[in-house]
Amino acid sequence: MIAGKILKIWNSSPHEWISGLRRRLRGEKGWEWAYSLPGILVSRKHLNPTYLIDRWYRYWRVLERQSPYEHRDRFKFEGRSVLEVGCGPLLGWGPFILFRGAARFMFIEPWFRPDVLWSDEIEDLYLRPLYTELTANFGSELSPQRFCQLINDRSDPFGDAEGSADIILSNSVLEHIPREELPDLLQQCRAACSDDAVFIHAVDFGDHKGSDKGFGTMYDEPNRPRSNLNLLRKPEIEDCLVQAGFSVDRSVVYRRAHASPSHPDWNNYTMEDLQARVVLFVGRVNGGSCV
Ligand SMILES: C[S@@+](CC[C@H](N)C(=O)[O-])C[C@H]1O[C@@H](n2cnc3c(N)ncnc32)[C@H](O)[C@@H]1O
Repeated sequence: MIAGKILKIWNSSPHEWISGLRRRLRGEKGWEWAYSLPGILVSRKHLNPTYLIDRWYRYWRVLERQSPYEHRDRFKFEGRSVLEVGCGPLLGWGPFILFRGAARFMFIEPWFRPDVLWSDEIEDLYLRPLYTELTANFGSELSPQRFCQLINDRSDPFGDAEGSADIILSNSVLEHIPREELPDLLQQCRAACSDDAVFIHAVDFGDHKGSDKGFGTMYDEPNRPRSNLNLLRKPEIEDCLVQAGFSVDRSVVYRRAHASPSHPDWNNYTMEDLQARVVLFVGRVNGGSCV
């Protein structure tokens, strides 16, 4: 354990471990996400009732464009327990997943605020339109009140329910976890898994700036974590997943962007990996023990 920590520090840059140490001394975990009600109310993204439903099916179209995924059935929500990592302020895919019959929705979201989710504004502007959208898409016997009750009854922050999650999901989260914290988070996910659990993680490797959705000047500069991006690339996310005890069946590059690296820190990557902007990682728990 201690040897592992020393190795981790040895392998990280001074910038990384100093900022990690500073955060720990201050008692902070990760980079901060403020989810206030006024902030959510002005964001078109959070209140869009079709966004997450469409995203789920779009990801699967992209993933299966070449060939069907052999374990796709294990991603059916009916009767299953689902864990979403970094679901955001309104439980991310949770309400959709519960509507589709999941037995339970668990989440790891350090900045979740129940008072925001259960405010009148969010019920009127998000949960009810989402209910209408879901009913139009899939039909339902549920009333809107029962839908809200279902979300309330069956969603929980992930605690210590080890071995309970059948499906693990995240969208645009793994790139935001500090490098030194990612192994712990993935090991927590691994411990949460049932024996035949599957996962899908969508990771955006871009610089998250501007509207061109590319890499900006990222590859002209040293590979140092910055403003809430860990700057890990596709092979490193795969390694982290494998180290935590998962098998990665597919890492499908969904979106690519132009990359012309000029800083030597990027020489260790293939051009294909540097151009991978959004990647969908899909796989299962590894039968072996958690590392
Ligand atoms: C870019 S947002 C993505 C939110 C949502 N999944 C979406 O697609 O809109 C990244 C999310 O990761 C969450 N996050 C940050 N650190 C985390 C951690 N250590 N564990 C779980 N989630 C974390 C943030 O609070 C934030 O909600």
